[in-house]
Amino acid sequence: MKRKILVTSALPYANGSIHLGHLVEYIQTDIWVRFQKMQGHECHYVCADDTHGTPIMLRAQAEGITPEALIERVWHEHKADFDGFHVEFDNYYSTNSDENRELAQDIYRKLRDEAKLIETKTIEQFYDPEKEMFLPDRFIKGECPKCHALDQYGDSCEACGATYSPTDLINPVSAISGATPVRKESEHYFFTLGACADFLKEWTNAGHLQPEAANKMQEWIASGLQNWDISRDAPYFGFEIPDAPGKYFYVWLDAPVGYMASFKNLVKQRSAVSGQPSAEALFDEFWKEGSKTELYHFIGKDILYFHALFWPAMLKFSGHRTPTRVFAHGFLTVNGQKMSKSRGTFITAASYRKHLNPEYLRYYFAAKLNSSIEDIDLSLEDFAARVNSDLIGKYVNIASRCAGFISKRFAGKIVLPQQALNLEPDLLTTDFMAKASMIGALYESREYGKAIREVMALTDQANQWIDDRKPWELAKLDEKEESLHTVCSIGINLFRLLTLYLKPVLPKLAADVESFLNIPPLQWADAATLLPTGHIINPYQHLMTRIDPKQVESMIEENKATLAPQIEQHSPARHAEKQQHEIQPIAETISIDDFMKIDLRIARIVNAEHIEGAEKLLKLTLDIGEEKTRNVFAGIKSAYEPSMLVGRYTVMVANLAPRKMKFGLSEGMVLAASGSEPGLYILSPDEGAKPGMRVK
Ligand code: MSP
Ligand code: ZN
Repeated sequence: MKRKILVTSALPYANGSIHLGHLVEYIQTDIWVRFQKMQGHECHYVCADDTHGTPIMLRAQAEGITPEALIERVWHEHKADFDGFHVEFDNYYSTNSDENRELAQDIYRKLRDEAKLIETKTIEQFYDPEKEMFLPDRFIKGECPKCHALDQYGDSCEACGATYSPTDLINPVSAISGATPVRKESEHYFFTLGACADFLKEWTNAGHLQPEAANKMQEWIASGLQNWDISRDAPYFGFEIPDAPGKYFYVWLDAPVGYMASFKNLVKQRSAVSGQPSAEALFDEFWKEGSKTELYHFIGKDILYFHALFWPAMLKFSGHRTPTRVFAHGFLTVNGQKMSKSRGTFITAASYRKHLNPEYLRYYFAAKLNSSIEDIDLSLEDFAARVNSDLIGKYVNIASRCAGFISKRFAGKIVLPQQALNLEPDLLTTDFMAKASMIGALYESREYGKAIREVMALTDQANQWIDDRKPWELAKLDEKEESLHTVCSIGINLFRLLTLYLKPVLPKLAADVESFLNIPPLQWADAATLLPTGHIINPYQHLMTRIDPKQVESMIEENKATLAPQIEQHSPARHAEKQQHEIQPIAETISIDDFMKIDLRIARIVNAEHIEGAEKLLKLTLDIGEEKTRNVFAGIKSAYEPSMLVGRYTVMVANLAPRKMKFGLSEGMVLAASGSEPGLYILSPDEGAKPGMRVK
């Protein structure tokens, strides 16, 4: 039966670049959509940039451009990244569109007038008197009311983990202007989520969520649903609330409506083609209450609350259908740790594309993904090894071993005597064909890792089968001409089936194989057929090259060197950092003589290594131009991979009394900077400094 399916990925914010973390989601969704399309279902995949809110407004101001100009530029960057990774949306739109304004306002009116779920209340908030705007929690910093750590955000303390409201902060400051905020009253609009509790209790328990997600939502509901503040005061970049001058929809109200708006824009384009039903009819078929179509949202686990509570309630009480399923995935770590700018593992899509083939990453993510909310790790070493061994060593190898003979000896012609098939002792081709439904079921249930394992097991079998028959030896004997032809033809047929099974993951490679095999685009149902006798294939051309670990290294180096300053330039964290230097008190004054007592020297890091049992320390071997190197234990393990340090220059205190430590004698100290923000940086003098030079 032909299904009608609408699929979305979360809408990326328009104030940052797409990075590999985002791509977990877009690649996961794209694989699923491609699989559905290969099955012949009607499947639409829509997305958009999420363009509204204070951070985008402020970022545009900082760049001296309008928010419209900023989101226009970022849209093109995002689109290029998605195209580059073969993420094929049917429509990639923007939340700053007429469709979205109309739909958001319409939903709001229904919630207000028919469902009576909108209330107003006057609340007191921090206001920046210099910027003349209310401050979101993240843009206020101050002293934690609990542990008194300085420079904490307005919603929670990174030092002790306390959560509080920004009005609890001691000595709050605006992270935007540095001014002391004042308390100011203003009327806000609320969506009374509490009144939807019965519906949500039922909905979150009715199989629309993964079990872990359903449990989490039940907990939240049980702890009491707070009414949701959906308004923000001017100045704000967003949509005005109907009948409420100067009030705007909070970005998270119109963002999910962006899914509908992108689809609406798509059906407008489609219905413009003559013979198609009207846009309204196409739209209603998917979104009206009682719709028989399927709706799936792929999201990260951090935005479950919005998609599993607010969004279904908004839809339900405004006369729309609710999602069929919400699929949450975990977060990406790189080499086992959170992506980090200083380690160079905060990798943007654009920088990855400069160094490596996007299909390598699609393959690796697929091999790691499953249907749970668990985080997934990109281990860069494993990444290169796995791609090289699976894709080049095993899969492509099959084609390169068989195709040459078919082209050179048999003019590209495939031969497939029925008899030869039946004579195969293990009927390998039939086995391969029969796997279609099992592998299909794994894609359908988002168990991509298992699907890949199945395909790779088949690949091993195909290689073994060819190894056993040794076409390169058959080729030397005239009387084996026929066997050579049959073996290579079967090899090519196995390769075609493997390509079909990998096609949702590797669409570009599959397209190249389709032109090599001289066949129309492979559909899932084609797994029931083989290339028949007489079919002519094209000469084999190289399909994919190995990853050279150097490519990975240079990508990391590039991200280390260029990314940190760019990304941090306009983020609140960066403004906060400025604040931090103003706040942190300067130590007691010392004389020049006091200073000269400290002998600071340029040191070259000759070696760096982990210490067994040490949580924070690395063991450094430093050259400061003396006869012997120095041994120093430095508390920088959290920030640096030892191999990254070797060969670098830093500054050390050379006349510090040696200290006996648990792991040995430490003969000095290296200088590093850190603040209350996460991150630790050893000082790196410019090139030109020589080991042993004194720093004054
Ligand atoms: N704009 C909101 C979503 C609105 S949907 C109506 C948003 N944007 S985002 O750019 O921060 O994230 C987009 C998606 O990427 C989210 O689903 C988020 O969970 C996912 N990821 C962002 N960083 C990620 C990782 N490091 N790892 C995996 N997914 C990540 O949230
Ligand atoms: Zn604290």
